[in-house]
Amino acid sequence: MTKLINGKEIAQNLRNELKKEIDNLRSKTGKVPGLAVVQVGNVAASSVYVKAKTKSAEEVGIKVIDHHLKEETSEKELLQLVMKLNKQVNVNGILVQLPLPNHINEQIILDSIHPDKDADGFHPLNVGKLSIASHNDENLLIPCTPYGCLIMLKGLGINLAGKNAVVIGRSNIVGKPMAQLLLKESCTVIIAHSKTQNLQEVCQNADIIVAAVGRPEMVKGNWVKNGTVVIDVGINRIEVKINGENKNKLVGDVDFKEAAKNAFAITPVPGGVGPMTIACLLRNTTIAFKNAQKN
Ligand code: GUN
Repeated sequence: MTKLINGKEIAQNLRNELKKEIDNLRSKTGKVPGLAVVQVGNVAASSVYVKAKTKSAEEVGIKVIDHHLKEETSEKELLQLVMKLNKQVNVNGILVQLPLPNHINEQIILDSIHPDKDADGFHPLNVGKLSIASHNDENLLIPCTPYGCLIMLKGLGINLAGKNAVVIGRSNIVGKPMAQLLLKESCTVIIAHSKTQNLQEVCQNADIIVAAVGRPEMVKGNWVKNGTVVIDVGINRIEVKINGENKNKLVGDVDFKEAAKNAFAITPVPGGVGPMTIACLLRNTTIAFKNAQKN
């Protein structure tokens, strides 16, 4: 029987643990972690994510400091806000929701966030630390989506060492840090992307597939050999006809129904990776808070 990896439940467990930890930290220090959430403009998907992140953060006891800026905000104004938040003592984590409007250089903004307050783990210093395998995971600020995927993989209780892992997608947010995390677990890692030849064959040799390409149902059932673990990071909205009517449907980067026939375990969309990303953001904010207490 294929195992359905329940991201909703695993994320709930992580949030419960974080809530307890934050309660303890409040008792000990009289303070709680603070997360600044910055959104520029009104991209609909970003508004949904920001709302969900804010709600989850508040539920575990994190104080959210909300900055919703207008679309026309200049790069300089946004930089000034980040500088202010870098200095603000009640802010332990800073999250600037991506994408930013075209007139703002995302990398300049991400680089300006103090690495100790980098709730997303996107700052070059944290990216570098992640790639140096000797660093202690517990204090690292690691990109949330790939870390959530790793927690789900580890939860299966299988030995990851020596497994053939194929990560499809080479983004800074998911693909590259995912590959680093799998490498740290001693997997043999391939990062596949739009120029990869024979992707089907590459996938057919994988024990673990992490699909993060943003192409609806690109990974077909026969790309997945028997016993593979499939983690689907994709969230794609497609139109389907139901009873002659066009309806919106959320699908991943994997043809779930077909892939599930061969996989040992698979994440659904929705209810798989999505909730883990948010839970890991709360985890990073708590880590940043604890690190700040040590300084
Ligand atoms: N946009 C899509 N995913 C993310 C994420 O993980 N963090 C931020 N800041 N923006 C995103």
